[in-house]
Order: sequence, then C-alpha cells, then structure tokens
Amino acid sequence: MVFNDNTQVAPLLKDSLKRLEYRGYDSVGLATISEGKIYIKKDKGKIDEVEERITLTDLPGNIGIAHTRWATHGGVTKLNAHPHHCCTNKLAVVHNGIISNFLDLQEEIEEMGHKFISECDTEVLPHLIEINLRKRKTKLKEAVIRALKRVHGEYAVAILHEDYPQQIIVARKDSPLVIGIGSNAVFAASDIPAFLHLTNQALILEDEEIAVLTPNRVEIYKLSDPNTIIPREPITIQWTSEMAQKGGMPHFMLKEIHEQPRAIRNTLLIDPENIIDIAKMINNTKNVFITAAGTSFHAGLAGSYIFNNLTKTNNRALISSEFIDNVGNIIDDDSVVLGVSQSGESMDTLTALKFAKKAGAKIISITNVVGSSITRLSDHIINTQAGPEIGVAATKTFVVQLIAFCMLGMQLGKIKGAIDQSEFRDLKHHLDFLPDIVQKIIINQEENIKIAADQFSKKDNFLYLGRGINTATASEGALKLKEISYIHAESYPAGESKHGPIALIEPDFPVVFVAPPDDTQERLITNIMEMKARGAKIISVVEIDDLKIQKLSDIKFIIPSKVPNIFTPVAYIVPLQMFAYFSAIKRGFDPDKPRNLAKTVTVH
Ligand code: M6R
Repeated sequence: MVFNDNTQVAPLLKDSLKRLEYRGYDSVGLATISEGKIYIKKDKGKIDEVEERITLTDLPGNIGIAHTRWATHGGVTKLNAHPHHCCTNKLAVVHNGIISNFLDLQEEIEEMGHKFISECDTEVLPHLIEINLRKRKTKLKEAVIRALKRVHGEYAVAILHEDYPQQIIVARKDSPLVIGIGSNAVFAASDIPAFLHLTNQALILEDEEIAVLTPNRVEIYKLSDPNTIIPREPITIQWTSEMAQKGGMPHFMLKEIHEQPRAIRNTLLIDPENIIDIAKMINNTKNVFITAAGTSFHAGLAGSYIFNNLTKTNNRALISSEFIDNVGNIIDDDSVVLGVSQSGESMDTLTALKFAKKAGAKIISITNVVGSSITRLSDHIINTQAGPEIGVAATKTFVVQLIAFCMLGMQLGKIKGAIDQSEFRDLKHHLDFLPDIVQKIIINQEENIKIAADQFSKKDNFLYLGRGINTATASEGALKLKEISYIHAESYPAGESKHGPIALIEPDFPVVFVAPPDDTQERLITNIMEMKARGAKIISVVEIDDLKIQKLSDIKFIIPSKVPNIFTPVAYIVPLQMFAYFSAIKRGFDPDKPRNLAKTVTVH
C-alpha cells in the first residue's frame, strides 16, 4: 500500500495480513521505505507471535509491502520468509506462486557473483531485477518486466525499491492480484478482504499484466507492451467488511454454516436467463465434462448425477489434477467443461480449464468470487452468491454450488424434454423450500450433533457411506471430518463397502450412512445390516418419518421433511458439516485454520 500523506503503513499492513490469515501460512514479513531507505522485518510464525517477538509495526514510512508465506520451496525459516531482497538491499520483493525454473536461474545468477541467502525460489527475482537495473540502466518497471520474462511458473508479485520511494510495482501470471483504490491511498493484495475495510473500489489485474502504483494513480500495462497504458475502470465490491468478519460466532466456519439458508436464497435469485443460455450451450455440445478439486469436486460429482438423472446428459466429473491425464486427448471443440471452484483460483482447476480452452472446448465456471482467474477464461459464468467464505473448510460455498447444478439441471432437463413444465414447477417449489429446511436442521439438530461429537471424539477412524447422488454427500462429510478434526475418515459408495472396507469393521467402529428414503434405500439397508452384524455403531442422516432406518441407527441426525432425491445433498450435508465442526472443537482444534491447508490452493 502507498499513501499520499504521512500515514504510517506498517500497522495497516499487519492488519491487512491478519484479514487474510485464513488462507494459511507459516511465516510473515514487511518492507517499507522511509526517507529513501528500505526497512525489512520478517520471521517464521504467526503474525501476532512475530509482532510480539520483533515488532513489525514500528517500521517507518507511508509505503510498504507485506506477505505471509506458505512454504513450498525451502523450509519454514526466517531467511525463507518474504520479503526477499537483492545483494545491495535496495529492493524488496514479495511473491505468491512458484518459479519452476529457479534452480537454473539461481545457477546463472550466482555465476555473475550474486549470493543467495535463502532456499526460496522467490529470491531469484530481486537479483534478476537488480542485474537488469545495473546492466541496462533501465527504469524499475522495465527491469521488473525483463526479470519476469525469464521466469517460468506462476506469480503475483509486489516490489519496492529505495530509488523509487513513492512507487510499488505489481504484476501477475496465474496467481490472483487485485488493486484497491482509496481516497488517499492505493492498495494491492491477493484477495479483496485485505483492503475491503479501506475501500470497496477494486481494479482487477489480468494475467500477464503489470501495474505501477503511486499514491494517486494506477498505471496498468501488458507485460508484452510496456509502453501502452491500459484504461480500466474500478468495480464496486458489494461485500461489506463486516460480512468478512465472524458476526459474533466463535468461528468463521460456524458462522458460515449458519449463513447457508441465506446463501441458498441469494443463489436462487441468479438470473434464469443466464442459466438458460448455459443450458442451451450444453445441449448443443457432444461431450460434457465437470472438473474441480476437493469440496468443489464433490459438488461436481453430485452435479454429474443431477445431469444424468434429470437431463439424460452423458457427462463425466473429473478431479482437476487428473483431468488432462485422463481425458486430455478427447477434449475438442465439441466439448464443454464446467469448472467448479469457490475461489476461482485453484491452480489444478485453472490448469485443467486452460488446457480444455486451448483444445477448443467451451468453458463454463461456477465460482463464488467475481473477477477470479477462472471466470476470466470462461465463456459463461455462474456466480454463486454465498458471500465471502473465510473458514478454510468449505461449507456455504458447497451448498450453493449444488444449487447452481440443480438450477442448471432443471433448465437443461426442460430443454431436452426430459422433464415437463409441471415437473419443473414441482421441483422449483421444492428448491425454494430448501433454505427453510436447512435453517431447521441447523437450529433443531445442534444439541443432538454436539452430543454425538462428544461421544465419538476419541475415535481414530470413521467410514462414511451413501448410494447414488449421496456418494458425493458421504465423500464431502468424510472430507469435512478429516480436514478439521484430524480423525481419519474414509468414504465409499455403500455398495462397494463389502469389497474391502468392511474388513475394518470391529465392535463400535462408527459408520455414517447418508440415508434418504429414495430408490436406493432398500439396498442401503442391506449395507447397514452388514455393518451392524459386525458390531459397527450406525450414525445415520435420516428423514424424520423414516422409521425403518431410524430403528437400525444408534445415532440419528434428523432431516425435518421430504426432499426430492436430486436436492438431498443440499440438506443431508448440513448435519455432517456440523458434526465435523463440533468434533474439531471437542478435540481442541481451530476449525478455521486446519494444519497444512490453505483456503486457496494456488500450487500444483
Ligand atoms: O477454491 P476451490 O473450490 O477451487 O478449492 C478446491 C479445494 O481446495 C477446496 O474445496 C478444499 O477441498 C476445501 N477447502 C475443503 O473444505
């Protein structure tokens, strides 16, 4: 950030880093310029610990950059923390992403007499910039461009130089970077909540662009054309700063679980014409693929069942990191690929979609972040309306992804003649009722779920089973439990459990069944009986009137009313999110910041 008055930036930088803490990190650092001199402080650890140890906030100056690092190259050490500097200490760089050719560059730079002091890939950048400044006597912007041209991989960078005491250079390729325009300052960050409390005016920097930030001006250029300023209007961010805070709840995750009814309601308000256009595009295309990672993949898997059941559209859901290896050679211009990503930034999904686009496919994205990288390469976008999701564990963004698939499936089903107008109306009626059902689950089941979480909190293993569309719900339930409570949880299609996983079952082994009263129920009961026969404790997510399943269950998480089969994941996942949350609390873990995980995974 850079101010046009004598505001001291260091405390503001620290505050902004705190607002991005949810993204996961292991070290922290700041650089500022005051009276033509650069100051850097950094260390490993959490922001408050580092502040306590070395006081980041006393750095002087009205211009500065800051960073939290999540280690990829080089261990968690002070030297590997950002900002990185060059041999002359005149220049500081922070970087998100990975420089994949850093070893080659490092060797080349060392041969020129430069000394590397960290193991971090980023350190090649300050040295390269310094070399360009010295050798070619260019200005800072040109020196940065030359350096970035040498780099392979992904980056969002911010650069400060003593000789340019009122200038921050930022640039990006495949890593997010947004610019905020305030009344007396300019900001740049990897995510909007970093500056949303300071301004709601944002400029989106596109891939392979560079911007020169000065207190009252932002100049944007293409890396390939550094002489032509690209005019760009700021957009107004509708989220309020409070929306990105905890709203009185102990954790973002719980707040976000409670926000699900509203998130669903808002997503149901998406312009139907947009959905119809997308449905028409899918209808006119031969090959339909869905790709995503993690929780978003589970939404995509449910989406695949919705398409099959409701629209008779042959399609496949693929995990993004497997997409190219699996179907790369069959993607063509008669293909459509739906990319699902709450952040719109997951590197695996971005890579799969870029590949598909290059092969001629049409791209549709379902994301929760306006202007994110994935939306910018899409032909059509469904912007889900969950509002900002801060907890690392995806909850409300998952249910709205499901809603997007339901809305799209219904329109596509109508276009294909697989459902008629009265079936469509009936489904729409049930869809509109989902927020109330979710609300009831949250309110009525909390105590029951807390008790169950206490009872099972010492277990080391869980099995989650479901059939049909709810294999996706079971997978998501297991992912939630393992990522925040660190209890090992596996999920299987229930019918597959007898082909191996059943060997794990011994007395009191907890098995969770996602058990709506649909066409799969009789077969699911067989699986419950198989587990019971071996002494398993049966936990079921079950409809209020379904006494058959309830009689077979030791613990019941109750769904208060009937839900059409294709909508069941939206309701049936909610108790499992809550079970994971209360299990993490009981075991003494912070569900908002699970170890080893980041909210946005921008590495391969
Ligand atoms: O932002 P994305 O939806 O693309 O993220 C994909 C996964 O990293 C993400 O869903 C992850 O699995 C969740 N945070 C788990 O709760």
